Amino acid sequence: MNVMIVGGGGREHAILEKLRENPRIEKMFALPGNGGMNEHAVCVPIKATDIDGIVSFAQENLIDFAVVAPDDPLISGACDRLRAIGVRCFGPSAAAAEIEGSKSFAKELMQKYGIPTAAYETFDCAKDAYAYLERTSYPTVIKADGPALGKGVIIAQTREEARDAIRAMMEDGVFGTSGSRVVIEEFLTGNEASVLAFTDGTTLIPMVSALDHKRALDGDNGLNTGGMGALAPNPFYSVERARECMESIFLPTMRALNAEGRKFKGCLYFGLMLTKNGPKVIEYNCRFGDPETQVVLPLLKTDLLEIMLAVEDERLAEVPVHFRGGAACCVVLASQGYPAQYQTGYEIKIDKIDQTKDIFVYHAGTKQDGGRIVTSGGRVLGVTALGADAREAQKNAYDAVKHVHFENAFFRRDIASRAIAAQEEKGE
Ligand code: AMP
Ligand code: GLY
Repeated sequence: MNVMIVGGGGREHAILEKLRENPRIEKMFALPGNGGMNEHAVCVPIKATDIDGIVSFAQENLIDFAVVAPDDPLISGACDRLRAIGVRCFGPSAAAAEIEGSKSFAKELMQKYGIPTAAYETFDCAKDAYAYLERTSYPTVIKADGPALGKGVIIAQTREEARDAIRAMMEDGVFGTSGSRVVIEEFLTGNEASVLAFTDGTTLIPMVSALDHKRALDGDNGLNTGGMGALAPNPFYSVERARECMESIFLPTMRALNAEGRKFKGCLYFGLMLTKNGPKVIEYNCRFGDPETQVVLPLLKTDLLEIMLAVEDERLAEVPVHFRGGAACCVVLASQGYPAQYQTGYEIKIDKIDQTKDIFVYHAGTKQDGGRIVTSGGRVLGVTALGADAREAQKNAYDAVKHVHFENAFFRRDIASRAIAAQEEKGE
C-alpha cells in the first residue's frame, strides 16, 4: 500500500513511526513532513493547507490511504475531496470537523444534547459583547469562534482585560474572520485531561488519557504554546472519571453529530476539565492532539493502520484496540523565545540513542539542509520515553534529552512533575 501523511509536526512523525510497523505498507509520503520524517517517508514540499496540491498528489501517486492530521485541511474539507476521487482516508468530513472549526457550533451542539460544558454566550456584535462584560463575573474566558493557531483563548482576570480581548478580536481583527464572532464562557477550575478517541460514527474507543502542558515556562507560567510536553496516562483521570466521561460526554457527542447528519470518522479529541461538579468539555478537536499523540501512540499495541482502515470502513467494532501498561512522558525541545520571536537554522546533533530502551525522538520544526538537520520552527523535537510508571518515564525522558544538542534550545524541566506529586500524595 502507498500511504500519505498530511502534516509535518511531532504528531505526524509519531503517526508515521506507528504506521510503519505495518508490513503491508510499501511506500510512505509526508506532505510536507520534516527533517526526521524523511528517514522513512518521502517528504514532498506541499503545504498541509494546499488542498488542491494534496488531492493532485494523491491522484498522481496512486495513494491507497491518506492520513490527514492537522486541523486546517480537515476543516477545509481535505478528506471530502480525497474521498471524492476514491482515496480512502483517516479524518472527518468538513461538516464533522466543524466541531473544532467553530466554537459556537460546538457549544450549541453541547447545549442541545445536554453535554456538560461551561455556561456561555455567543456574540456577533462587539457592542453586545461589551455590555455582557458589565454583568458577568471574573475571571471570564473569551474565545475567538474560528481557528486561531491555538491563540484564540483569553482568560481575562478583569473587565479591562476582557475589553482588550474583545477589541482585539472583534474590532482590530487580529485573528481575521475567526474573531468576528466570539464565545464568552464561564471560567472552570480543576485538573485538565486530554482524551483522544477513535470513532467510526458507531463505535467509539477512547485511547489512553494524556496530560498536556500548554504554558511555556516551568510551574505553568508564561505564554500559552502548542504544548511543551505531555504525560500518559493522565494520573488525574481515574477509571471512575473515564466511565463517567464515556456516558456523559464521549458517546453523547458521537450520537449528537450523527443526529445532526455530521457523522464523525477519525480521531475525536476531548479537552476536559475535571471539575468538582464532574467532567466538562473545554474544547473539541477534530484530530489527534500534539504533543498528546507523542505519548499516546507509543503506548498503542494494536496496529495503527488496521485501526485507521477499520474507522474508514466503519467496522471499528471488529478491531480490539489495546494499550500497553506503564507510562509515557514527552519533553518538547523548543527554540529559545518560542512562542514569540525565535531564531532558526541551528544544527541539531543527536547522540546515538539506545532504541531498545523505548525512547523516541520525534521531529517537528526541523529540516534537512545539505546533509545536516537544522532547526526550522518553534517546537523543534519531542523526546518521548516509556517507563513502568510516570516517574520512571519522566526520568527516562529527561535522561534522553541530554543526548540531543542544538544551540538556542529550551525546554521545561517540570513536565509531569505536578501530576506525579499529586499521585504520590494519594499513595498510588
Ligand atoms: P484551547 O486553546 O481551547 O485549548 O484553550 C487553551 C486553554 O485555556 C485550555 O487548555 C484551558 O487551560 C484554558 N481554558 C479554556 N476554556 C476554559 C474555561 N472555560 N475555563 C478555564 N480554563 C479554560
Ligand atoms: N495539545 C492541544 C492540541 O493539540 O490542540
